Amino acid sequence: MSQPFAADTETDYEDPLDLMDEIDQLRREKDATILAHFYVDGEIQDIADFTGDSLKLARDATRVTTSTIVFCGVHFMGESAKIMNPEKTVLIPDPLAGCSLAESCQADELKAFQDGLRADGRRFETVAYINTSAAVKSLCDWIVTSGNAQEIIDRIPADREILFVPDRHLGRYLSEVTGRPMILWPGSCMVHEIFSVQDLLRARRSNPGSQVIAHPECPQNILELSDFVGGTEKMRRHVMSTAEPTTFLVATEATMIHALQKSAPQHTFIPVPGIMTSSGETCACNRCPHMERNTLQKVRNCLRDGQPEIVWQDYYEAARAVLEKSLLQ
Ligand code: 13P
Ligand code: SF4
Repeated sequence: MSQPFAADTETDYEDPLDLMDEIDQLRREKDATILAHFYVDGEIQDIADFTGDSLKLARDATRVTTSTIVFCGVHFMGESAKIMNPEKTVLIPDPLAGCSLAESCQADELKAFQDGLRADGRRFETVAYINTSAAVKSLCDWIVTSGNAQEIIDRIPADREILFVPDRHLGRYLSEVTGRPMILWPGSCMVHEIFSVQDLLRARRSNPGSQVIAHPECPQNILELSDFVGGTEKMRRHVMSTAEPTTFLVATEATMIHALQKSAPQHTFIPVPGIMTSSGETCACNRCPHMERNTLQKVRNCLRDGQPEIVWQDYYEAARAVLEKSLLQ
C-alpha cells in the first residue's frame, strides 16, 4: 500500500543559518506550517511551529490554519496528519523515513490473524499503536499513542479481549498497568529494543542520585530499572516538574535530549547507550535512522518543490473514523 516516491538525493553542504532563513521565507510564501517530532534534529525542532509527541502533533495538525503542513517525522505521522486534514497539502521532507515498528505489522497479515480469531468465536477489539500504516489503522477499533493508551484501553468493555498491535513491549507494559490481558502482536522498535541493561546499571553506578526515565517501547528489563516510564511528552513534563537539578539517564531516542534540555535546563541528561545486536558491542545507535533522514535541506526542498506529498488514498476514510474517535473524542 506504500506510495511511489522518488528516492532522496545527496546534496552539497549548505549553511544551516541560510537554510533556516530560506525555510522561514518559503513557509510564509507557501502558506505552510511546520510540525516536528521530538526525535528529529534539534535545528529542525527549533524552526518548527509545533513540536511534540505523536499525540500532540496529531492533535496540532487539526488546528493548523494554513493550506500546507510540512510534517518532519516519519511516514505514518505525515499520513495521520493527511487523514485528519484531507483538504490540506501534507508534505514530508523524506518519503523513505519509515518506522521499523510500523513495518512489523502488515495489513494483510493482521487481517488474516483477525479472521482466524473471529473464526474461533473470539470477541475482541483491536487496539493499534499510532505507529502503524493507515491500511492497518483501517482494520482497527482504536488507535493509541504512548500519551493516551491507558485512557483508551479503560474504554473497552471488560467482556472483550484486546488484540494489541504492533509493539509487544508497549502492549506488555499497558497490560501490566491496566490489568487487562492482551493478545500481543510480535513487533518492536529497532531503537528501543537495543538498550543495554549492563550499560544502564554502569551509568547508574557512575551517576549516584540519577533517575532513569524510559519510553514504554523499551523491553521489560529496562522498564524494571526505570524510575519513570512515559512517552516523550510525559517525559518532558516529568523533568519540568522536577525542580532540584538532577541527572536523568534517558532511555529513548537520543535526540529527545534536545527537547528535555530546552524545557528543563537545570538538569543533566545522559543518553542510555544501545548494544549492537550483531556483535554485542555497546554503540551510540539509539538514534532512529528514519527520523534522522529529516534534514534542514530536505525541509527547504519540500517547501520549495511542493513534494514529496502524502496523497489521499481510498482506505484513509476508514482510518480517519478510528483516528478521530480515538484522538479527538
Ligand atoms: P511518542 O508517541 O512518545 O512521541 O513516540 C513516538 C515514537 O515513534 C516512539 O518511538
Ligand atoms: Fe519507529 Fe522506533 Fe523510529 Fe519511533 S524510534 S519512529 S518506533 S523506528
